[in-house]
Amino acid sequence: MNETLQTIQNHVSVRQYTDKKISEEMLQQILKAACSGSTMGNMQLFSIIVTEDEAMKRKMAPLHFNQPMATQAPLILTFCADFNRFNRFCEFRDAETEAYSNMQSYHWAVIDALIAAQNACVAAESLGLGFCWLGTITYNVDKFIEVLQLPKHVIPVACIPMGYPVEKPALTQKLPVEAMIHRETYHDYDQARIDALYAEKEHSEETAGILRENPDCENLAQVFTKHRYTKNDNEAFAKVLMETLKKQGFFADL
Ligand SMILES: Cc1cc2nc3c(=O)[nH]c(=O)nc-3n(C[C@H](O)[C@H](O)[C@H](O)COP(=O)(O)O)c2cc1C
Repeated sequence: MNETLQTIQNHVSVRQYTDKKISEEMLQQILKAACSGSTMGNMQLFSIIVTEDEAMKRKMAPLHFNQPMATQAPLILTFCADFNRFNRFCEFRDAETEAYSNMQSYHWAVIDALIAAQNACVAAESLGLGFCWLGTITYNVDKFIEVLQLPKHVIPVACIPMGYPVEKPALTQKLPVEAMIHRETYHDYDQARIDALYAEKEHSEETAGILRENPDCENLAQVFTKHRYTKNDNEAFAKVLMETLKKQGFFADL
């Protein structure tokens, strides 16, 4: 296996970092990797907010529900879907600026931002760093916009604290690769296939521990829907997200 494949296939989220700072040179390598990926129409519809300042981290910490990585990591990269820069380019070049205020534009910008984020992650791991995505950026999207002073047509989509790992955790158990793969057309999952694909995960020691901590749940799926990502929470966060997207100038067509 070559080094690139090794880096990618050995990925594991790291949630504890040492005090060691990330050098400016290393940061530049990560940012260059982030900005080197494929992008819709070569428009580069993303921006990256670099956070190193402790006061800024403290401001954002409650919005990340005080997850320790949000203050412990020496570096946080927040990837934003960004049509503002391209709109400005159009505006200053006497081109139409209303072309990109719709859902399609948002969709493209999210894709670009996520490609950039994953490239940064691969670069970081190849340099011996560890990281852990913070989904909380999508929960409090309106408040992050305020703290990071994001203009219209800019929405944060991924937040990734990075640092030198205190230790490299064991690889996280994943579904077998075939679970995600469909040859030529999609083949829907019947119960027998779901049973087979989830068997290892459902019978693992980790799942047994999770079920001991959640005695009101009969299985792992119920832990997700009853406790981890509930309908009520998801609908409340979705409402904020949709309102914020409209306020930021996306979805003007809906
Ligand atoms: C969009 C997204 C949001 C995530 N949010 C969090 C988070 O808020 N807190 C956390 O501890 N891990 C978070 N993670 C990390 C996942 O839990 C982790 O990637 C997953 O369990 C697989 O483990 P691995 O990354 O070690 O392979 C997030 C990952 C993604 C892709």
